Amino acid sequence: MDKDAPAKAIIVVALVAVVCSSLVSAAVVLLRPIQLNNQLLERSRNIMQLTGLVEPGQALDDANMLALFKSLDIRIVDIDKGEFDDSLDPHTFDQRRAAGDPNYRVSVPAAQDLAKLGTRSRFAAIYLVWKDGQLRRIILPIRGAGMWSMLYGYLALEADFNTVAAASFYEQTETPGLGDQITRPDWLAKWRGRKVYDDLGDPVFAVGPGRIAPDSPAAEHRVDALTGATITGDAVTSLVYYWLGPHGFKPLLNRLREQPPTQAATAATGDS
Ligand SMILES: Cc1cc2nc3c(=O)[nH]c(=O)nc-3n(C[C@H](O)[C@H](O)[C@H](O)COP(=O)(O)O)c2cc1C
Repeated sequence: MDKDAPAKAIIVVALVAVVCSSLVSAAVVLLRPIQLNNQLLERSRNIMQLTGLVEPGQALDDANMLALFKSLDIRIVDIDKGEFDDSLDPHTFDQRRAAGDPNYRVSVPAAQDLAKLGTRSRFAAIYLVWKDGQLRRIILPIRGAGMWSMLYGYLALEADFNTVAAASFYEQTETPGLGDQITRPDWLAKWRGRKVYDDLGDPVFAVGPGRIAPDSPAAEHRVDALTGATITGDAVTSLVYYWLGPHGFKPLLNRLREQPPTQAATAATGDS
């Protein structure tokens, strides 16, 4: 064959394409477990910081972090019934996928859809934090639409199911320097101690308006607004309101107030 023949060029291009696509596919397959492990580590670090069992700044290597995380008392909640559900494995349940799965999702009525979810999973994985046999915290997953992106976070409440112990947003793509200020540790630290319900049991936690004077009555339920991020801040108010309301975790929290949970046999974390 003439070395300049078009057929030869086509064969060379095809071979290069096959070799390159094989390399990319192999890389995807080989790197997937590493990626999944990194995601698990990231999630466990995030949740462990909300438990109060890890001191701020305490260095924990990956293995110890994962061991602690895996020993947490994680439960599946049927959100609508407000009760624990033993039929699903909390360690493998994927709430995000369930929100889109016809077998697991429920529609959020428009009048109640403050978090702009459309649908949500019927079930959620929540964490109970025990220390010396006492329930110390409950960690609830929360999410809602911000200005540009879905905001994913966790809200940790004290054992009174009303006082904020900690909060985090671990995934969002709001504008850097504006909406993404919701991930600022100094701002999230201000959530601590706020009450999320009023005396009638209605959700009241809110971001802003403006700066909240620490000794004002508003400081009981509110944290400072974020400059240049009123829209994202209002979205945070709305999503917290939704998740603590009757279509969110309120039925569960009411039930736990009446029937305090008991520690799962496997959950030894924090006991001394
Ligand atoms: C390019 C661009 C990106 C913006 N991103 C955000 C954002 O992520 N979150 C947000 O609340 N406001 C964002 N804003 C600002 C809002 O349009 C609005 O001005 C702001 O929320 C008002 O906040 P303020 O009352 O504190 O000024 C953005 C504005 C522009 C022009």
